[in-house]
Amino acid sequence: MLEKIIIHTSYEEYPIFIGKLQKIIYPNKVLIISNTKVAGLYLDKVLQNIQAQEVYTYLVPDGEDYKNFDTIEKILESAFDFLLDRKSLMIALGGGVVSDMVGFSSGIYQRGIDFIAIPTTLLAQIDASIGGKTGINNRFGKNLIGIFHQPKAVYIDPSFLSSLPQREFKAGVAEMIKMAVCFDGDFFAWLEKNDLNSTKNLQKAIIKSVNIKAKVVELDEKESGIRAGLNYGHTFGHVIENQTNYKQFLHGEAVAIGMRMANDLALEYGYLSVKDYKRIELLLEKYGLNLDYKIIDIKIFYEKFLLDKKTFNQKIKFILPKNIGDLIIVDNISKENILKILSKWSQI
Ligand code: GLY
Repeated sequence: MLEKIIIHTSYEEYPIFIGKLQKIIYPNKVLIISNTKVAGLYLDKVLQNIQAQEVYTYLVPDGEDYKNFDTIEKILESAFDFLLDRKSLMIALGGGVVSDMVGFSSGIYQRGIDFIAIPTTLLAQIDASIGGKTGINNRFGKNLIGIFHQPKAVYIDPSFLSSLPQREFKAGVAEMIKMAVCFDGDFFAWLEKNDLNSTKNLQKAIIKSVNIKAKVVELDEKESGIRAGLNYGHTFGHVIENQTNYKQFLHGEAVAIGMRMANDLALEYGYLSVKDYKRIELLLEKYGLNLDYKIIDIKIFYEKFLLDKKTFNQKIKFILPKNIGDLIIVDNISKENILKILSKWSQI
Protein backbone atom coordinates (compact mmCIF):
# COMPACT_ATOMS: atom_id res chain seq x y z
CA MET A 1 0.00 0.00 0.00
CA LEU A 2 1.32 3.43 -0.94
CA GLU A 3 0.30 6.37 1.24
CA LYS A 4 0.71 9.89 -0.15
CA ILE A 5 0.66 12.85 2.18
CA ILE A 6 0.85 16.34 0.71
CA ILE A 7 2.55 18.98 2.78
CA HIS A 8 1.71 22.61 1.99
CA THR A 9 4.43 25.15 2.64
CA SER A 10 4.58 28.87 1.93
CA TYR A 11 6.69 28.25 -1.15
CA GLU A 12 4.99 25.24 -2.65
CA GLU A 13 3.54 21.88 -1.74
CA TYR A 14 5.33 18.57 -1.96
CA PRO A 15 4.43 14.91 -1.61
CA ILE A 16 5.63 12.47 1.00
CA PHE A 17 5.24 8.89 -0.21
CA ILE A 18 5.14 6.09 2.33
CA GLY A 19 5.49 2.57 0.90
CA LYS A 20 7.61 0.76 -1.67
CA LEU A 21 10.14 3.14 -3.29
CA GLN A 22 8.60 4.64 -6.43
CA LYS A 23 10.38 5.31 -9.70
CA ILE A 24 11.94 8.78 -9.73
CA ILE A 25 12.02 10.38 -13.16
CA TYR A 26 14.01 13.57 -13.58
CA PRO A 27 14.85 15.29 -16.88
CA ASN A 28 18.21 16.75 -15.79
CA LYS A 29 21.31 15.75 -13.81
CA VAL A 30 20.96 14.01 -10.45
CA LEU A 31 23.57 13.76 -7.71
CA ILE A 32 22.85 11.17 -5.04
CA ILE A 33 24.61 11.85 -1.77
CA SER A 34 24.77 9.06 0.75
CA ASN A 35 27.15 7.72 3.37
CA THR A 36 29.46 4.75 2.99
CA LYS A 37 27.32 2.50 5.17
CA VAL A 38 23.92 3.21 3.58
CA ALA A 39 25.32 3.16 0.04
CA GLY A 40 26.53 -0.41 0.54
CA LEU A 41 22.99 -1.43 1.42
CA TYR A 42 20.69 0.64 -0.77
CA LEU A 43 22.50 2.60 -3.46
CA ASP A 44 21.95 -0.07 -6.13
CA LYS A 45 18.28 -0.30 -5.34
CA VAL A 46 17.90 3.47 -5.58
CA LEU A 47 19.92 3.66 -8.81
CA GLN A 48 17.57 1.09 -10.35
CA ASN A 49 14.67 3.38 -9.51
CA ILE A 50 16.04 6.56 -11.02
CA GLN A 51 15.69 7.68 -14.58
CA ALA A 52 17.56 10.91 -15.30
CA GLN A 53 19.78 12.60 -17.84
CA GLU A 54 22.84 11.56 -15.82
CA VAL A 55 23.14 10.15 -12.32
CA TYR A 56 26.22 10.73 -10.13
CA THR A 57 26.93 9.65 -6.60
CA TYR A 58 29.03 11.12 -3.83
CA LEU A 59 29.61 9.40 -0.49
CA VAL A 60 30.34 11.05 2.84
CA PRO A 61 31.58 9.30 5.99
CA ASP A 62 28.95 7.93 8.37
CA GLY A 63 28.22 9.75 11.62
CA GLU A 64 27.08 12.92 13.33
CA ASP A 65 30.66 14.10 13.90
CA TYR A 66 31.00 14.59 10.11
CA LYS A 67 28.02 16.95 10.00
CA ASN A 68 30.21 20.00 9.58
CA PHE A 69 31.46 22.60 7.10
CA ASP A 70 34.23 20.30 5.86
CA THR A 71 31.73 17.78 4.58
CA ILE A 72 29.49 20.50 3.11
CA GLU A 73 32.47 21.83 1.21
CA LYS A 74 33.21 18.37 -0.16
CA ILE A 75 29.60 17.85 -1.24
CA LEU A 76 29.60 21.21 -3.01
CA GLU A 77 32.91 20.47 -4.70
CA SER A 78 31.55 17.18 -5.99
CA ALA A 79 28.55 19.08 -7.38
CA PHE A 80 30.91 21.48 -9.19
CA ASP A 81 33.05 18.57 -10.42
CA PHE A 82 29.97 16.94 -11.94
CA LEU A 83 28.95 20.30 -13.46
CA LEU A 84 25.59 20.37 -11.77
CA ASP A 85 23.57 23.37 -12.88
CA ARG A 86 20.59 25.15 -11.43
CA LYS A 87 18.20 22.61 -12.90
CA SER A 88 20.04 19.67 -11.38
CA LEU A 89 18.74 17.70 -8.42
CA MET A 90 20.43 16.40 -5.27
CA ILE A 91 19.09 13.30 -3.58
CA ALA A 92 19.74 12.60 0.10
CA LEU A 93 19.96 8.87 0.69
CA GLY A 94 20.51 8.20 4.37
CA GLY A 95 19.57 9.24 7.87
CA GLY A 96 19.12 12.63 9.48
CA VAL A 97 22.75 13.62 9.12
CA VAL A 98 22.71 13.05 5.37
CA SER A 99 19.35 14.72 4.85
CA ASP A 100 20.36 17.77 6.92
CA MET A 101 23.60 18.16 4.96
CA VAL A 102 22.12 17.55 1.52
CA GLY A 103 19.26 19.92 2.29
CA PHE A 104 21.81 22.55 3.27
CA SER A 105 24.17 21.93 0.33
CA SER A 106 21.35 21.99 -2.22
CA GLY A 107 19.96 25.16 -0.65
CA ILE A 108 23.21 27.07 -1.13
CA TYR A 109 24.60 25.50 -4.32
CA GLN A 110 24.31 28.20 -6.99
CA ARG A 111 21.86 29.94 -4.59
CA GLY A 112 19.66 26.89 -4.33
CA ILE A 113 18.70 23.84 -6.34
CA ASP A 114 16.08 21.16 -5.68
CA PHE A 115 16.56 18.09 -3.51
CA ILE A 116 14.65 14.94 -2.76
CA ALA A 117 14.98 12.90 0.41
CA ILE A 118 15.05 9.12 0.60
CA PRO A 119 15.41 8.61 4.34
CA THR A 120 16.76 5.29 5.52
CA THR A 121 16.47 5.57 9.31
CA LEU A 122 13.29 5.74 11.34
CA LEU A 123 14.32 9.10 12.73
CA ALA A 124 14.84 10.59 9.29
CA GLN A 125 11.65 9.00 7.93
CA ILE A 126 9.36 10.49 10.55
CA ASP A 127 11.15 13.72 11.37
CA ALA A 128 14.46 14.92 9.93
CA SER A 129 13.65 14.57 6.23
CA ILE A 130 10.35 16.43 6.51
CA GLY A 131 9.86 20.13 7.00
CA GLY A 132 12.90 21.75 5.47
CA LYS A 133 15.20 22.21 8.46
CA THR A 134 18.71 21.70 7.20
CA GLY A 135 22.14 22.42 8.59
CA ILE A 136 25.26 21.38 10.40
CA ASN A 137 26.85 21.41 13.84
CA ASN A 138 29.85 23.39 15.01
CA ARG A 139 31.79 23.52 18.23
CA PHE A 140 29.24 25.92 19.72
CA GLY A 141 26.40 23.49 19.35
CA LYS A 142 24.09 21.34 17.34
CA ASN A 143 22.33 22.54 14.16
CA LEU A 144 23.35 26.13 14.83
CA ILE A 145 24.19 26.79 11.17
CA GLY A 146 21.70 26.12 8.42
CA ILE A 147 18.76 27.23 6.33
CA PHE A 148 15.15 26.31 5.76
CA HIS A 149 15.01 24.53 2.43
CA GLN A 150 12.06 22.28 1.68
CA PRO A 151 12.56 19.11 -0.36
CA LYS A 152 10.74 18.54 -3.64
CA ALA A 153 9.51 15.17 -2.42
CA VAL A 154 10.20 12.61 0.30
CA TYR A 155 10.18 8.87 -0.39
CA ILE A 156 9.76 6.80 2.76
CA ASP A 157 10.17 3.08 2.22
CA PRO A 158 9.74 1.32 5.59
CA SER A 159 11.43 -1.81 4.18
CA PHE A 160 14.71 0.15 4.37
CA LEU A 161 14.42 -0.13 8.14
CA SER A 162 14.89 -3.91 8.10
CA SER A 163 18.67 -3.46 8.17
CA LEU A 164 18.60 -0.67 10.75
CA PRO A 165 20.47 -1.59 13.95
CA GLN A 166 18.12 -1.92 16.92
CA ARG A 167 19.80 0.98 18.68
CA GLU A 168 19.12 3.34 15.76
CA PHE A 169 15.56 2.09 15.47
CA LYS A 170 14.94 2.91 19.12
CA ALA A 171 16.46 6.36 18.64
CA GLY A 172 13.80 6.98 15.98
CA VAL A 173 11.05 5.82 18.32
CA ALA A 174 12.14 8.60 20.70
CA GLU A 175 11.04 11.17 18.11
CA MET A 176 7.73 9.31 17.69
CA ILE A 177 7.14 9.46 21.43
CA LYS A 178 8.06 13.16 21.35
CA MET A 179 5.29 13.83 18.81
CA ALA A 180 2.75 11.71 20.68
CA VAL A 181 3.42 13.43 24.02
CA CYS A 182 3.14 16.95 22.60
CA PHE A 183 0.51 16.58 19.92
CA ASP A 184 -1.55 13.40 20.10
CA GLY A 185 -2.68 11.65 23.27
CA ASP A 186 -4.46 8.91 21.28
CA PHE A 187 -1.25 8.07 19.44
CA PHE A 188 0.52 7.94 22.81
CA ALA A 189 -2.10 5.46 24.10
CA TRP A 190 -1.71 3.44 20.88
CA LEU A 191 2.06 3.25 21.44
CA GLU A 192 1.37 2.09 24.99
CA LYS A 193 -0.98 -0.69 23.89
CA ASN A 194 0.82 -1.86 20.75
CA ASP A 195 4.36 -2.54 19.67
CA LEU A 196 6.29 -1.73 16.51
CA ASN A 197 7.37 -5.28 15.74
CA SER A 198 5.00 -5.93 12.86
CA THR A 199 5.26 -4.26 9.46
CA LYS A 200 1.62 -3.24 9.76
CA ASN A 201 2.07 -1.47 13.09
CA LEU A 202 5.31 0.14 12.02
CA GLN A 203 3.78 1.51 8.83
CA LYS A 204 0.79 2.79 10.79
CA ALA A 205 3.05 4.56 13.31
CA ILE A 206 5.15 6.09 10.52
CA ILE A 207 2.04 7.40 8.75
CA LYS A 208 0.71 8.82 12.02
CA SER A 209 4.01 10.53 12.85
CA VAL A 210 4.41 11.96 9.35
CA ASN A 211 0.88 13.35 9.49
CA ILE A 212 1.62 15.04 12.80
CA LYS A 213 4.88 16.45 11.52
CA ALA A 214 3.31 17.67 8.26
CA LYS A 215 0.48 19.41 10.11
CA VAL A 216 2.84 21.16 12.51
CA VAL A 217 5.11 22.32 9.68
CA GLU A 218 2.11 23.62 7.72
CA LEU A 219 0.97 25.63 10.72
CA ASP A 220 4.36 27.10 11.50
CA GLU A 221 6.97 26.48 8.84
CA LYS A 222 9.69 28.76 10.20
CA GLU A 223 9.12 27.93 13.87
CA SER A 224 7.69 31.09 15.29
CA GLY A 225 5.34 29.16 17.55
CA ILE A 226 3.87 25.67 17.59
CA ARG A 227 6.70 24.03 15.60
CA ALA A 228 8.91 24.54 18.64
CA GLY A 229 6.85 21.67 20.10
CA LEU A 230 8.86 19.35 17.89
CA ASN A 231 11.79 20.44 20.01
CA TYR A 232 10.49 18.85 23.20
CA GLY A 233 13.54 17.14 24.71
CA HIS A 234 15.86 18.89 22.26
CA THR A 235 16.89 21.90 24.37
CA PHE A 236 18.49 19.48 26.82
CA GLY A 237 19.30 16.84 24.19
CA HIS A 238 21.34 19.16 21.98
CA VAL A 239 23.51 20.16 24.94
CA ILE A 240 24.02 16.50 25.86
CA GLU A 241 25.14 15.79 22.29
CA ASN A 242 27.47 18.79 22.29
CA GLN A 243 28.94 17.93 25.68
CA THR A 244 29.65 14.37 24.57
CA ASN A 245 31.16 15.48 21.24
CA TYR A 246 28.36 13.80 19.25
CA LYS A 247 29.96 10.43 20.00
CA GLN A 248 28.29 8.90 23.05
CA PHE A 249 24.61 9.18 22.11
CA LEU A 250 22.60 9.01 18.93
CA HIS A 251 20.46 12.10 18.44
CA GLY A 252 17.26 10.26 19.40
CA GLU A 253 18.90 8.87 22.53
CA ALA A 254 19.94 12.36 23.65
CA VAL A 255 16.39 13.55 22.92
CA ALA A 256 14.98 10.73 25.08
CA ILE A 257 17.15 11.85 27.99
CA GLY A 258 16.21 15.45 27.22
CA MET A 259 12.51 14.54 27.42
CA ARG A 260 13.09 13.00 30.85
CA MET A 261 14.81 16.21 31.97
CA ALA A 262 12.03 18.36 30.53
CA ASN A 263 9.50 16.19 32.33
CA ASP A 264 11.22 16.92 35.65
CA LEU A 265 10.76 20.61 34.93
CA ALA A 266 7.14 20.11 33.85
CA LEU A 267 6.42 18.11 37.00
CA GLU A 268 8.04 20.75 39.19
CA TYR A 269 5.86 23.46 37.61
CA GLY A 270 2.66 21.43 37.72
CA TYR A 271 2.24 21.08 33.95
CA LEU A 272 2.60 17.33 34.17
CA SER A 273 0.71 15.22 36.69
CA VAL A 274 2.57 12.48 38.53
CA LYS A 275 0.39 9.97 36.65
CA ASP A 276 1.36 11.30 33.21
CA TYR A 277 4.98 11.71 34.26
CA LYS A 278 5.01 8.00 35.08
CA ARG A 279 3.22 7.07 31.85
CA ILE A 280 5.94 8.80 29.80
CA GLU A 281 8.67 7.15 31.86
CA LEU A 282 7.02 3.76 31.29
CA LEU A 283 6.61 4.29 27.56
CA LEU A 284 10.26 5.31 27.21
CA GLU A 285 11.20 2.22 29.19
CA LYS A 286 9.00 -0.01 27.01
CA TYR A 287 10.98 1.09 23.95
CA GLY A 288 14.36 0.88 25.71
CA LEU A 289 14.69 4.65 25.99
CA ASN A 290 14.83 5.23 29.75
CA LEU A 291 18.40 6.40 29.37
CA ASP A 292 20.53 8.41 31.78
CA TYR A 293 23.24 11.01 31.46
CA LYS A 294 25.25 12.39 34.33
CA ILE A 295 25.83 16.14 33.95
CA ILE A 296 29.43 16.84 34.86
CA ASP A 297 29.17 20.61 35.34
CA ILE A 298 25.70 22.12 35.62
CA LYS A 299 26.95 25.68 35.05
CA ILE A 300 28.59 24.78 31.72
CA PHE A 301 25.47 22.81 30.77
CA TYR A 302 23.32 25.85 31.61
CA GLU A 303 25.53 28.26 29.64
CA LYS A 304 24.99 26.14 26.52
CA PHE A 305 21.25 26.87 26.67
CA LEU A 306 22.08 30.48 25.88
CA LEU A 307 23.14 29.45 22.38
CA ASP A 308 19.96 27.47 21.75
CA LYS A 309 18.13 28.79 18.66
CA LYS A 310 15.00 29.29 20.74
CA THR A 311 16.75 31.55 23.24
CA PHE A 312 16.01 35.27 22.82
CA ASN A 313 17.41 38.03 25.03
CA GLN A 314 18.98 35.32 27.16
CA LYS A 315 15.54 33.96 27.99
CA ILE A 316 15.81 30.20 27.68
CA LYS A 317 12.79 28.56 26.13
CA PHE A 318 11.65 25.11 27.20
CA ILE A 319 9.02 22.96 25.54
CA LEU A 320 7.20 21.14 28.28
CA PRO A 321 4.44 18.57 28.07
CA LYS A 322 1.12 19.80 29.37
CA ASN A 323 -0.08 16.41 30.43
CA ILE A 324 -0.16 14.02 27.50
CA GLY A 325 -1.15 15.30 24.05
CA ASP A 326 -0.48 18.97 24.63
CA LEU A 327 2.47 21.24 25.31
CA ILE A 328 3.42 24.55 26.77
CA ILE A 329 6.31 26.78 25.74
CA VAL A 330 7.82 28.63 28.69
CA ASP A 331 10.62 31.16 28.88
CA ASN A 332 10.24 32.42 32.42
CA ILE A 333 11.86 29.67 34.45
CA SER A 334 14.41 31.12 36.81
CA LYS A 335 18.06 30.17 36.53
CA GLU A 336 17.85 28.86 40.07
CA ASN A 337 15.07 26.42 39.19
CA ILE A 338 16.76 25.29 35.99
CA LEU A 339 19.94 24.61 37.95
CA LYS A 340 17.89 22.71 40.52
CA ILE A 341 16.67 20.27 37.86
CA LEU A 342 20.13 20.04 36.31
CA SER A 343 21.65 19.27 39.69
CA LYS A 344 19.37 16.23 40.03
CA TRP A 345 20.95 14.97 36.81
CA SER A 346 24.44 15.61 38.12
CA GLN A 347 23.86 13.24 41.01
CA ILE A 348 22.61 10.16 39.24
N1 GLY B 1 12.95 18.21 14.06
C1 GLY B 1 12.28 19.36 14.53
C2 GLY B 1 11.63 20.15 13.46
O1 GLY B 1 11.64 19.76 12.31
O2 GLY B 1 11.08 21.18 13.73
